[in-house]
Amino acid sequence: MGIEMCGIVGITGTKQAVSVLINGLERLEYRGYDSAGIYVNDQTGQDYLVKRAGRIANLKSALTPEIQGSAGIGHTRWATHGVPNEINAHPQYSADERFYLVHNGVIENFEQLKQEYLADVKFQSQTDTEVVVQLIDRFVVDYEMDTKSAFLKVLHLISDDSSYAFVLMDRQTPDTLYVSKNKSPLLVGVGDGFNMVASDAVAMLKETHNFMEIEDREVVIVKPSGVVIRDFDGNEMKRDTFRVDMDASAADKGTYPFYMLKEVDEQPVVMRKLVQEYLDTDGSPVIEPELLSRMQQADKLYVVGAGTSYHAGLIGARLFERLTGIPTQVFISSEFAYEQPIMSKKPFFIFLTQSGETADSREVLVNVKKQGWPTLTITNVPKSTLSREATFTLLLHAGPEIAVASTKAYTAQVALQAILAKGLGMAMRKQLAIDFDVKQQLGLVAVGMQAIVDSKDQLESVAARYLAQPRNAFYIGRGIDWSVALESALKLKEISYVQAEGFASGELKHGTIALIEDKTPVIGIITQDRTAGLTRSNLQEVVSRGASVLTIASKHLAQPDDTIVLPDVDELLTPLLSVVPAQLLAYYTSLGKGLDVDKPRNLAKSVTVQ
Ligand code: F6R
Repeated sequence: MGIEMCGIVGITGTKQAVSVLINGLERLEYRGYDSAGIYVNDQTGQDYLVKRAGRIANLKSALTPEIQGSAGIGHTRWATHGVPNEINAHPQYSADERFYLVHNGVIENFEQLKQEYLADVKFQSQTDTEVVVQLIDRFVVDYEMDTKSAFLKVLHLISDDSSYAFVLMDRQTPDTLYVSKNKSPLLVGVGDGFNMVASDAVAMLKETHNFMEIEDREVVIVKPSGVVIRDFDGNEMKRDTFRVDMDASAADKGTYPFYMLKEVDEQPVVMRKLVQEYLDTDGSPVIEPELLSRMQQADKLYVVGAGTSYHAGLIGARLFERLTGIPTQVFISSEFAYEQPIMSKKPFFIFLTQSGETADSREVLVNVKKQGWPTLTITNVPKSTLSREATFTLLLHAGPEIAVASTKAYTAQVALQAILAKGLGMAMRKQLAIDFDVKQQLGLVAVGMQAIVDSKDQLESVAARYLAQPRNAFYIGRGIDWSVALESALKLKEISYVQAEGFASGELKHGTIALIEDKTPVIGIITQDRTAGLTRSNLQEVVSRGASVLTIASKHLAQPDDTIVLPDVDELLTPLLSVVPAQLLAYYTSLGKGLDVDKPRNLAKSVTVQ
């Protein structure tokens, strides 16, 4: 069955392929980590295929010194169907062991292709990928086509609703990578004496900083000496290279035990980076005038995202409404995709997506575009699919986020929406926006975040004392504190497997309070003047039912026995601080349980299936 979220890397040229592939796969491991494999060819007739179930570490320990080559392909997999075992791992290969293929995506009509063309073939894996590679072999061997034509023929036979990123190797042209994509990310890395391909630039940054985009439904031939891109009709496409100046070490853990901790710690720097990128010396937002004018014409803003990005959108909606007066509604992308609400007359869509690749969000973008409405993607990944397909893009500049649990991308999304709301509000001459000194406030936020990340010891002991044992926990709050409660609970459940809920604190007593038992942790978030007293009363209700109550409170609202006291910032921006202790509580709970913080079970970083 389909292999949907995976990391792909390929190289051909003067480099030692094995180390490049392994290094690339390690950087892509966030995309999937239940099995991995490589195929390399040394150009003298010797080739090697190594696959293992489990992490890349397993694959690495299976490699022996004679396994070498100057061209190869590698794959790390996260399966949603089919067992993640060695046989189903990629590369998949043809029965005559001539063709080797790595694939990310789902071939929707693979059963039909199998019956129509390969009824006599015995398959060893359960993958759709094996069908594709066997079919290429069939056209080459039985129909005497050359490899490129056979590859193209198969691409034509694959149904349009399928998704794929393919890199194919042929033992008879061992320095050539045959490449194509549809709806799945893949790009070319251009080097000196070598060329590469991978599903994310981070997998190639150690070797090159120059990249080339691949559009959907093109065939790309990658050789050591050059890259030729053609559309499916055979027309050669001119493509410029672009440079990514990111340092390869930005994607390294450095001395940190886990990426998540590094990424939590980077948040003050990300805040300063956003100030530098988007605000001028007097604190006015520097945003494309065309974007502001299109947003200004809107009668309603629709914010769309999934998971953590959806949670960032909840805060954004509050910011847009307060600072611009434009009604704003937030949607979970997978819901909007199938149940479009009755639309306002002049909608403007904002897509929040760290990766820029989330299939649920893309589905909405594609539909919205068809209806002719303007769109903005706010993403961390330049040239990602949602960035390319939207009318406008704003980049988060947060640096690569590798840990599966999103942290710095969330705070960057909130901060950038604040800057955008300020810019839009100013353009609309809204007094609240004019008075909101976002530059000064983000400066305070950066300092406040630093103070919180510097109090890790305290958070580690709170996590050990209150969160190590219980199966259930609650984060509660009102208004934007509730929105942060949702994100805080998601962090806790995804990496520590504690069943956590984020709840509107006033709503708890209407049913869910029945779940409170002796020592159930309930963490109250208290940052808003208007609701602080109410949330404290709701905490009293659970104390009297035996809950262990913890509090995260802004300084000016704090009481002597609050657990964590946050430095004061403008009420609109408190989520940027209140979420940080929650991220660290989740981190230390997971760490204390001995779990793999960065790679929680059942999850992958970028969810490219619907
Ligand atoms: C949770 C998390 C996910 C993502 C979601 C959307 O920590 O990271 O909930 O936020 O899968 O991903 P993006 O933002 O890449 O669209």
